[in-house]
Amino acid sequence: GKVAVLMGGQSAEREVSLMSGAGVLKALQSKGVDAHAFDPAERDLVELKRKGFKRCFIALHGRFGEDGTVQGALELLGIPYTGSGVMASAIAIDKTMTKRVWVAEGIPTPKYQLLRRGLFTREQVIQVPDELGLPVIVKPAREGSSIGVTKAQGYSEMQDAVTKAAELDADILCEQFVSGDEVTCPVLGTGDTARALPVIRIVAPEGNYDYQNKYFTDDTKYLVPCGLPEGEEAAIQEIVLKAYKVLGCRGWGRIDVMIDGKTRKPYLLEINTSPGMTGHSLVPMSARAAGISYEDLCLMLLADAAL
Ligand code: DAL
Ligand code: MG
Repeated sequence: GKVAVLMGGQSAEREVSLMSGAGVLKALQSKGVDAHAFDPAERDLVELKRKGFKRCFIALHGRFGEDGTVQGALELLGIPYTGSGVMASAIAIDKTMTKRVWVAEGIPTPKYQLLRRGLFTREQVIQVPDELGLPVIVKPAREGSSIGVTKAQGYSEMQDAVTKAAELDADILCEQFVSGDEVTCPVLGTGDTARALPVIRIVAPEGNYDYQNKYFTDDTKYLVPCGLPEGEEAAIQEIVLKAYKVLGCRGWGRIDVMIDGKTRKPYLLEINTSPGMTGHSLVPMSARAAGISYEDLCLMLLADAAL
């Protein structure tokens, strides 16, 4: 039956989603799937039903796409979709909520403080580095692709960093910076059959893996095989798989991790339940290293579409 590739949407990652969706659409069509682009920012999701779509491939990122809202609408419409369900999506979009679940399950994640827009004082902002040290990573709690993220190097930068994050989200996450190796690890599958794919090590110019270096420069190096000691890669895959399962994720996901350069301990930063599928994106890169082509990856994900 007809497949809708949901792409675009209304989050700050719209542009990234359009790139992901274009790749997925082309791949599915090349494999003979009757796939069509569908942008929820332009059309009502109810149309999916009227137009006879049988399944959805969600290539949306960020809010109103990756956060459980579209998933909930598709549940109501009775149309199976790729990736995690409502609850896992809603928790995973929120970096603070994700950390709370992980902390409760004994999964290491950097120390943090949450500021709520309108409810904190200048003094409280200045005090954050007393607790977390410097630099502090300041992020909107529910954005992706590093949009609105600042590495605040000093007390004076804190205020600007918080103001910038607060423009994108009412919840501002201040996180301890972990200095060391930046890696990411995709997971494919659900429950007992879920498995971690090869770890990718990211070496960005000046350690700055920001929006530009994620999608628009060729200066970022991606190492897969990651070149970490074998035991270390396996340990990351194990903790990532556990972190995916405790959130109840389905289909696929990608967890971003910092490895402390001194202690070699991994700290999980966040999970992406609708990871990028652009030409620069990491899940396809890791899958390829595991012998899975971009096209086959898309077919596998679609085959797992569920309600
Ligand atoms: N949020 C982007 C799409 C990613 O994690 O790949
Ligand atoms: Mg993310």
